[in-house]
Amino acid sequence: MERISIDQARAHEGQQVEIQGWLYNLRKSGKIIFPVIRDGSGLMQCVAVKSNLPEPVFEALKNLTQESSLSVTGTVRAEARAPGGYELDVTDAHVVQRVPEERPYPITPKEHGVDFLMDHRHLWLRSRRQHAAIRVRHEVIKGIRDYFDSHGFILVDTPIFTPSACEGTSTLFEVDYFEDEKVYLTQSGQLYNEANAMAFGKVYCFGPTFRAEKSKTRRHLTEFWMVEPEMAYADLEEVKRVAEELVVYLVGRVLETRQEELKVLERDTAKLANVKSPFPRMSYDEAVKALAAKGSEIRWGGDFGNTDETLLTQDFDRPVIVDRYPAEIKAFYFQPDPERPELALGVDMIAPEGYGEIIGGGQRIHDLALLEKRLDEHKLPREAFEWYLDLRRFGSVPHGGFGMGVERFVAWMCGLEHVRETIPYPRMLYRTRP
Ligand code: 4AD
Ligand code: MG
Repeated sequence: MERISIDQARAHEGQQVEIQGWLYNLRKSGKIIFPVIRDGSGLMQCVAVKSNLPEPVFEALKNLTQESSLSVTGTVRAEARAPGGYELDVTDAHVVQRVPEERPYPITPKEHGVDFLMDHRHLWLRSRRQHAAIRVRHEVIKGIRDYFDSHGFILVDTPIFTPSACEGTSTLFEVDYFEDEKVYLTQSGQLYNEANAMAFGKVYCFGPTFRAEKSKTRRHLTEFWMVEPEMAYADLEEVKRVAEELVVYLVGRVLETRQEELKVLERDTAKLANVKSPFPRMSYDEAVKALAAKGSEIRWGGDFGNTDETLLTQDFDRPVIVDRYPAEIKAFYFQPDPERPELALGVDMIAPEGYGEIIGGGQRIHDLALLEKRLDEHKLPREAFEWYLDLRRFGSVPHGGFGMGVERFVAWMCGLEHVRETIPYPRMLYRTRP
């Protein structure tokens, strides 16, 4: 007899199989009981008939508690009304661990507050919606890897302990460990990515990044995953092209492979189906004008708030690409617009439906003197950036790239209110456990 995972049921119709999992739900109707088993790959409704089973097996199943672990043997039968389309006619069962009545599984079908659920995140991940969101995350990450791997990019990992601040000094996590030097948790792999691009041409890094941001919003985590491509001999236009192509590919892939999960999440997939090229594009100047016309208080020179981002995408059914921001509000490394040096050749992609900025990037300074000047202006310590300046001393070329936050992207795909449900163990200002 074969041991299968529930998602393989289709290939085993009419056969005797064993599944190993946990009791998700139990419905009783006299001499027949319907345990629903989950095994991580799906849900299987089982049918256990008293007259077909040894007495102790039937009794054990009948009195089983939620989330007890068990293995069940039976025959797979197609059943259109069952979740997953198959049922199992039980011939035997074995309880591995029975959850005692005295301390039942804490998460019940009743409504729990989000703090309670977050405190039980290690168990909450077993619930259908959480499970679905993490499976979408898996698909997005795999899709990102596949996109870059099939477009000539090499994965080159960047360090997490770093002496140089990338995205300003206000959101740095200092690590008190190394003897001679101030070291921080990385905010972005970009600076190392630039070195890697000069070695490999087209690269990406993909890992956890950290921001000591005191913002408690539904879009901010203190630890989040970011994928960052970087390309030698690339300008702002190329950066925008790749960002758009990646997003179109990922949305299509999630729609193609994760319909079941999106259904569990009650995601309106028609909205995602609209996400096709070309994306609307506008300059920062144009965005400020459009926002002013919509009643925003923004003035030229200010950064967009969450409300501005939502207003900006209101009239569009796909992400909006905004470029050429005032250099003042951007990081030190942006190449200035040759026609208007007060502008940075930076770009943000803003997702529709209020999901906000999912991508930030642009073209980097390739001129040594200008980069030195910017480091001074931003009061960044020269020593920590000497190696970075080397990239402008030895074969400097125009180059650029971007970063995409995985959690914000997944929140958008899943239609989730808050990014905390898109990462297995979220870290936020007031959340470091479990
Ligand atoms: O716009 P950011 O800060 O850009 C950078 O870090 C660049 N160095 C990337 C690059 O060009 N290689 O961050 C990029 C993206 C944002 O658009 C957003 O999706 C995500 O990272 N992000 C966050 N996600 C969750 N929580 C936070 N606190 C985030 N901060 C940024
Ligand atoms: Mg940004």
